[in-house]
Amino acid sequence: MSKVTVVGAGNVGATVANVLAHKDIVNEVVLLDIRGDFAKGKALDSWQQAPIDYYSTKLTGTDNYKDTKGSDIVVITAGIPRKPGMSRDDLISTNAGIVASVTKSILKYTKNPIIIVVSNPLDVMTFAAFKSSGLKPNRVFGMAGILDTARYRAFLATELKVSPKDISAVLMGGHGDTMVPLPRYTTVAGIPVLEMIEKDKLKAIVERTKKGGGELVKLMGTSAWYAPGAAAAQMVESIVKDDGRIFPCCTYLNGQYGLKNIFLGVPVKLGKEGIKEVLELKLNKSEMKLLHKSAGHVKDVMKVFNKMKIV
Ligand code: NAI
Ligand code: 2OP
Repeated sequence: MSKVTVVGAGNVGATVANVLAHKDIVNEVVLLDIRGDFAKGKALDSWQQAPIDYYSTKLTGTDNYKDTKGSDIVVITAGIPRKPGMSRDDLISTNAGIVASVTKSILKYTKNPIIIVVSNPLDVMTFAAFKSSGLKPNRVFGMAGILDTARYRAFLATELKVSPKDISAVLMGGHGDTMVPLPRYTTVAGIPVLEMIEKDKLKAIVERTKKGGGELVKLMGTSAWYAPGAAAAQMVESIVKDDGRIFPCCTYLNGQYGLKNIFLGVPVKLGKEGIKEVLELKLNKSEMKLLHKSAGHVKDVMKVFNKMKIV
């Protein structure tokens, strides 16, 4: 019995709604966009797929926040994506205002939703939604780690000629080129990856993962949507099912890993109340150093956001 609102019916938002409908685990998905009837069209198209792909999740589109009333979970994808040559951080001046106003509009009609932020620059936009919402930190978090880890796992599967299903991994840090894939916490069907691959090949995969978003922007002229949409839908699924799955998510840290008052990617346990638990791994010195370097970068972007005085 759940209602999910997806704000932004563009490439990522429409994919989140469509993947979620295919999972057939929530009653209703509302897709909202400022582009007139665009969200209505996207939702209607997805709904007309239901008799073919056999799902009952009702999809509707709107440009009116009244229709989001009583949402259990809200996924925010509104904002502009990267163009070639842009970093995620270049999006801040446009997207910060959008994310803050979307969050406030949602809160007018739903008092205590769980909010999953997707808009970039992700770590700072999650902070913006948190600040604008006044919600508890376990109810506002961001999607990036599942996507970045999936890219890492997919590259490893190709290199090792194994199924991506058998690659399990942890990746931490900000959603940017300073993210921290963790080979020590990567396994192939339970076997440590370091026993399966030469060091230089693994290093190249780690580097490719860090620039994985940019690789797709170069290829397509805009950023990715299939894997990002599926990643956000997977977060919704684990909240709705409350089955205790562990994923890297952009989460408020209050002392964990020696970091405070920052949203950053770390492994968490998700459930019906949002973030059930932040997991603290025993990182070694060099892993911790990389994590703090990534946090330093996110803090720099936060300074730009704070100067904007949006919230
Ligand atoms: P898109 O341009 O296809 O869609 C964005 C949609 O947001 C548009 O339909 C637009 O009309 C809508 N929008 C803009 N302002 C709005 C407002 N105030 N209220 C409601 N809707 C509004 O872009 P795409 O590719 O879907 O990307 C969306 C965002 O997600 C971008 O910021 C992108 O950088 C980010 N992204 C983040 C990822 C992550 O891992 N966290 C992965 C992929 C994209
Ligand atoms: C991505 O990683 C641009 O954040 C977006 O694909």
